[in-house]
Amino acid sequence: MTAPTTSAGFDAAYRAPLTLWGDIRVPREVKAIADRLADGKVLELGCGLGRFSQYLAERGLDSTGVDFSPVAIDKASARVAGKARRANFMVADVTNLHVPGGPFDAAFDIGCFHCLDAEGQAAYAAGAASVLKPGATLLIWGMETAPSDQPFTPDAAEAIFEGHFRLVRSAPSRRRFARSYWLWLERL
Ligand SMILES: C[S@@+](CC[C@H](N)C(=O)[O-])C[C@H]1O[C@@H](n2cnc3c(N)ncnc32)[C@H](O)[C@@H]1O
Repeated sequence: MTAPTTSAGFDAAYRAPLTLWGDIRVPREVKAIADRLADGKVLELGCGLGRFSQYLAERGLDSTGVDFSPVAIDKASARVAGKARRANFMVADVTNLHVPGGPFDAAFDIGCFHCLDAEGQAAYAAGAASVLKPGATLLIWGMETAPSDQPFTPDAAEAIFEGHFRLVRSAPSRRRFARSYWLWLERL
């Protein structure tokens, strides 16, 4: 099965009880966001079922998760209802980002950016910059052989984010058993 590319395709995937990318363990790189920010506002791009935003809300951050799949956002909202008051989910397209509640102190993305084509990635970089505070960190995890036709590497990302973010650090990863990277970008 190939990964979906459209909102409708992801909706169909999220109607199933399990998704292909169902690694629900909170990555230590995401936990580190809560270790670093005592409080503040965090944005998750392509949040899916919202488990990581829920985790950060439970750690005391105001967390907003966005995704273009209404099915995922409904499921994320239903799961936190009455539990994680500081988690908030909304439908939004990361290639045309409009999200209230900013500017944010940090943002993160586990497996959304690598779904986008070149045009979408350029729009994502500008949109993420528009909602983050200067100096804020954008953490991205993506697979080197991405679901889109765009390779995801530190060099490729550095070129796409140029003018909006600077690449501060990268680390290879085997999350989901795939050759992949964590990138830490700083909003200029
Ligand atoms: C591989 S899933 C990862 C979901 C979640 N981050 C996780 O790790 O469980 C990629 C997510 O990105 C979302 N996505 C893809 N393209 C998007 C876009 N243009 N705007 C918003 N969300 C998008 C999908 O709906 C999906 O939820």
